[in-house]
Amino acid sequence: MNALQGKKILLGVCGGIAAYKAADLCRMLVKEGARVQVIMTRAGREFITPLTLSTLSGNPVLTDTFDSAGRNPLIHIEAAEGADLLLIAPATANIIGKLAAGIADDLLTTTALAVTCPSLLAPAMNANMYAKEVVQDNLALLKKRGWGIIEPEEGVLACGARGKGRLAPLTAIMAEVRRALSPQDFAGRTVLVTAGGTREPLDPVRCLTNRSSGKMGYALARAAWERGARVILVTTATEVEPPWGIDLRRVETAAEMAREVLGLFPQVDVVIKAAAVADFRPSRPAAEKIKKGDQEVLTVTLEPTVDILAELGRRKEKQILVGFAAETGRALEQGAQKMKAKKADLMVVNDVTREGAGFGSDTNQVTLLYPDGRRDELPLLPKPEVAHRILDAVKTLPAFAESTGL
Ligand code: PMT
Repeated sequence: MNALQGKKILLGVCGGIAAYKAADLCRMLVKEGARVQVIMTRAGREFITPLTLSTLSGNPVLTDTFDSAGRNPLIHIEAAEGADLLLIAPATANIIGKLAAGIADDLLTTTALAVTCPSLLAPAMNANMYAKEVVQDNLALLKKRGWGIIEPEEGVLACGARGKGRLAPLTAIMAEVRRALSPQDFAGRTVLVTAGGTREPLDPVRCLTNRSSGKMGYALARAAWERGARVILVTTATEVEPPWGIDLRRVETAAEMAREVLGLFPQVDVVIKAAAVADFRPSRPAAEKIKKGDQEVLTVTLEPTVDILAELGRRKEKQILVGFAAETGRALEQGAQKMKAKKADLMVVNDVTREGAGFGSDTNQVTLLYPDGRRDELPLLPKPEVAHRILDAVKTLPAFAESTGL
């Protein structure tokens, strides 16, 4: 699912130093298939030229309410027509004030009144300006009226001061855009995803782990959030960029993951266990680094960890449980057995010996198993696409319709 493909996005660019970031943002929107129409305020044009943005968007930039001959007074209506999203980034204190007051004195503000699509704005300004009561009141008013506000981040600002006012990261703005353009079919649901391989200490410097990168779990967390869910991600993975908007809980061992997941279980609707959890751990991790000494062989005794998915299966009331099975032989048979034993409502089976599937790769090839014996073999797909297909499958489960938030 590519939420931006073919969508008409109006990108409003105002006069702040962060205007230069609009060029990258424009490029990212186009790259995901959006048709971008840039509208710049007069101050915006002081910071970045329309030529840059028209080149990147492939469309002439709109700047004036009237065309040069003064013959077309309807540019704002034409721009608004068929728009799927209005995104103002960066949004200055001035435009925020004008939008809140309903002032329409230039092309961007008139267009903002004319659109009927979802509207987002990403403020960027000096921290003192952002903190001013009038700015905060205006933002609260706009939020109440349905605007999505992508909050700025803390950091060093263009003026050298530190504080909250820096344009939100472009990855965050892109995530909000995808969410605004996606069907909100998981709205009201809380989805808990686990990701990464657990690390079981052998001594203070060594551990037993596996090859899970966390990519599959992170893709699931992102996809569920884009589709409107509240998402909690319990993860061991540190190499993957933390997704925007998601409640992220870091853990290391199977025992820590079990504690976190079982504690959260009563408040979630769907659990997706993409993590590769150790089945065994060293029963007595050494307090000091194990020395090679003159021993020829080192014997480590392992003990079983808690099977989190099986425990969730025992405790489940209305929750939907999605398990994964990473297999190296007789994958479907093994997956079906695990689904039954762990009382999962859906099992995602990976034959991890297949090229491009399973651990570490950007793609995966899975078969979805249902408790009634149905199976759905998916082709090799990028992990974000696999994630959406799994969520599509979750939606078809009878328990999903009943899970309108616990
Ligand atoms: O992270 P990536 O690099 O993107 O790779 C993705 C993946 C291959 C890790 C993922 O697609 C996957 O298959 N995850 C499950 C791996 C696994 O542990 O499979 P399993 O067959 O050993 O376990 C079956 C299920 O029980 C899993 O949902 C697992 O999370 C759960 N389990 C297992 C053991 C345990 N102690 N507790 C559990 O909850």
